[in-house]
Amino acid sequence: MTDTVPTGIYGLDELIGGGFPKGRIILILGGPGAGKTLLASQFLYKGLSEHSENGIMVSLDESKKHYYSEMMNFGWDFQKAENEGKFGFIDATRLSRVAILKEKMVKEETSSLRGKQLSVDSLVEQLEERIRQINAKRVVLDTLASLFYRFLDPIERRTAGVDLIEALSDLGTTTLVTTELSQLGLERNLMDEEFLVHGVIMMQTLFSGGTTTRALQVEKMRGVSVNTNVVPYTIDKNGLEVYPAMSLFRDR
Ligand SMILES: Nc1ncnc2c1ncn2[C@@H]1O[C@H](COP(=O)(O)OP(=O)(O)OP(=O)(O)O)[C@@H](O)[C@H]1O
Ligand SMILES: [Mg+2]
Repeated sequence: MTDTVPTGIYGLDELIGGGFPKGRIILILGGPGAGKTLLASQFLYKGLSEHSENGIMVSLDESKKHYYSEMMNFGWDFQKAENEGKFGFIDATRLSRVAILKEKMVKEETSSLRGKQLSVDSLVEQLEERIRQINAKRVVLDTLASLFYRFLDPIERRTAGVDLIEALSDLGTTTLVTTELSQLGLERNLMDEEFLVHGVIMMQTLFSGGTTTRALQVEKMRGVSVNTNVVPYTIDKNGLEVYPAMSLFRDR
C-alpha cells in the first residue's frame, strides 16, 4: 500500500485513492489556461496551511511578485507563508525561452548544451538547499514546457527531461511537474516524460454543442487504485474543484 498525501483539491483525493503517492512525481498535463498552475499552487497552499507540509514553487514562467499577487486572488497569502518559513519561491525564469532569446542576442556561452545542462544542475542544487532550509515536503515545478524551449533538438530535450525528472525523484518530496499538452484530444501520443513519472493527470477544455466543459482525467497513478473516468472540474475564487461522481465519458 502506497502512502498518500492529501492533494488539497476538493474531489481529487477520492479519484486517486486518497491522495498523491507520497515522495513521488506527478505530471500535470494541460493546455493554456487549463488551471495547471492553480492546481499545483492549491496543492502547495493547502499543504502548508492545513497539513503542516511546507512547500516550494519553482517557476519557469512567472516572477515571484506576479505569482504572489495572482495567488492573492484566491486568498492564498504566499508572502506571509514565506515570512513564516513555510514556503519558498525559486525564480527560474532565466531558464526559459525568454532567457535563451536574450542569450542568443548577446551570444553568451550558456547557449551551448553544456551551459544549459549546468544551469539545470544548479537549479536542482538550489532546490535541494531550500528543501533543507524549510524542511519542505511538497515541491512544484511550473512548467517543464518552458524549459523545453531551450532544447529544440528532440534528443537534447529528452535527455534534459529525463535528467531533471530523475533529479527530482531523489528529493524525497511529493512533487508536481506541470507541462503543456503537445497535442489535444484523447488520441494523442504519450510524451517521453509520462513514462518517467509515477502519476499523470490530464486537464483540458472540451467543446461540445457550443458549450465548454473543463475536464480532468487521471491517466495513471502507480501503486494506487484510480478512477480513470474523464470528470468535470471547475475554477472559482476558492480555487479548483473536481467532481468525481460526474463522469463525462465512461472508461472503455
Ligand atoms: N476567480 C476565478 N473564477 C473563474 N475562473 C478563474 C478565476 N481565476 C482564474 N480563473 C481561470 O483559471 C485559469 C487559470 O489557470 P492557470 O493559470 O492555473 O492555468 P495554466 O494551465 O497554468 O495556464 P498557462 O498554460 O497559461 O500557464 C484561467 O483559465 C482563468 O480564466
Ligand atoms: Mg501556468
